[in-house]
Amino acid sequence: MSDKVKVTIDGISIDVEPGTSILNAARQIGGDIVPPAMCYYSKLQGSGGKCRTCLVKVSKGSEKDPRPMPKLVASCRTTVMDGMEVQNITSPEVVEARKGVVELLLINHPLDCPICDQAGECHLQDLSYEHGSEATRYEFDRRTFDKIDIGDKIQLHMTRCILCYRCVFTADQITDNRVHGILGRGDAAEISTYIEKAVDNDFSGNVIDVCPVGALTDKTFRFKNRVWFTKPVDAHRDCPKCSGKVALWYKGEDVIRVTARKDVYGEVEEFICNDCRFEHKKTSDWVIEGPRKISPHSVISANHYERLTPPSVVRKNPALLESNKEQFERVTKL
Ligand code: SF4
Ligand code: FES
Repeated sequence: MSDKVKVTIDGISIDVEPGTSILNAARQIGGDIVPPAMCYYSKLQGSGGKCRTCLVKVSKGSEKDPRPMPKLVASCRTTVMDGMEVQNITSPEVVEARKGVVELLLINHPLDCPICDQAGECHLQDLSYEHGSEATRYEFDRRTFDKIDIGDKIQLHMTRCILCYRCVFTADQITDNRVHGILGRGDAAEISTYIEKAVDNDFSGNVIDVCPVGALTDKTFRFKNRVWFTKPVDAHRDCPKCSGKVALWYKGEDVIRVTARKDVYGEVEEFICNDCRFEHKKTSDWVIEGPRKISPHSVISANHYERLTPPSVVRKNPALLESNKEQFERVTKL
């Protein structure tokens, strides 16, 4: 007898391991029924439960106790029960609530997308397009903060922070020395280092990749380009500190940014070290694997992916030439 439990989400059933959250069960199904998640991060223990974007309706609790749950629940923090039935995009109540959550997040988040380096990769921007309303009902001043410098590699824009805690968990779990956290409570809560201190240790750059908005950005990439004009390629190097598997972001023939690779939910596949991220920005530092596949939903995919790899890289990399004859032919004509 199987010890898996059956859950049905928006009419699609799946058997999952006991203890699985509704969100992760939905991810196992995949597609449009997966709730958005701004604070949950599968690679970070204890994450989730902060942003409420993943709210769903449990219309049947379980086979044993079929009563519906009285309120919408955070799918990242609610465990599936055998026979549970969940509604996400099929529930008008959930769609309406999500709109409210986006409105709440945008009360304090500035609409500075035109000058924000995260634009095009920002989960809140995507969420606002899908669930936001055109007008704001909020008339008060937005929060402001004293600017603090957290080092020469990472830029903190506190006004953009949605207090998801991902960067705190990352510093706690991925690096060996967390020097920042969330200080204060309520609308005074802020990311800070308490006594001004640089966030710099071998893996600190990962806080940039996990931040769902533009609150933590790469100082070495700041204002260099809009991300949809860059050309991402997968590359790796033999790194003693991390997997060395990265995405290189090209402007012409220059690597202007190095990031970890992200999966379909925008989560880092493998965390990378600061050496790979900040100190290796030459093509010759890397073995190029090929153009990075970007979700068709992303604004970045608006560019021509088949032409992503810079000609000089293609010429120098025989493996790439063999694996992509069509590209080779085109490049040799350039
Ligand atoms: S800085 Fe970014 S990752 Fe950190 S809590 Fe704020 S939004 Fe989350
Ligand atoms: S992703 Fe579930 S509460 Fe934020």
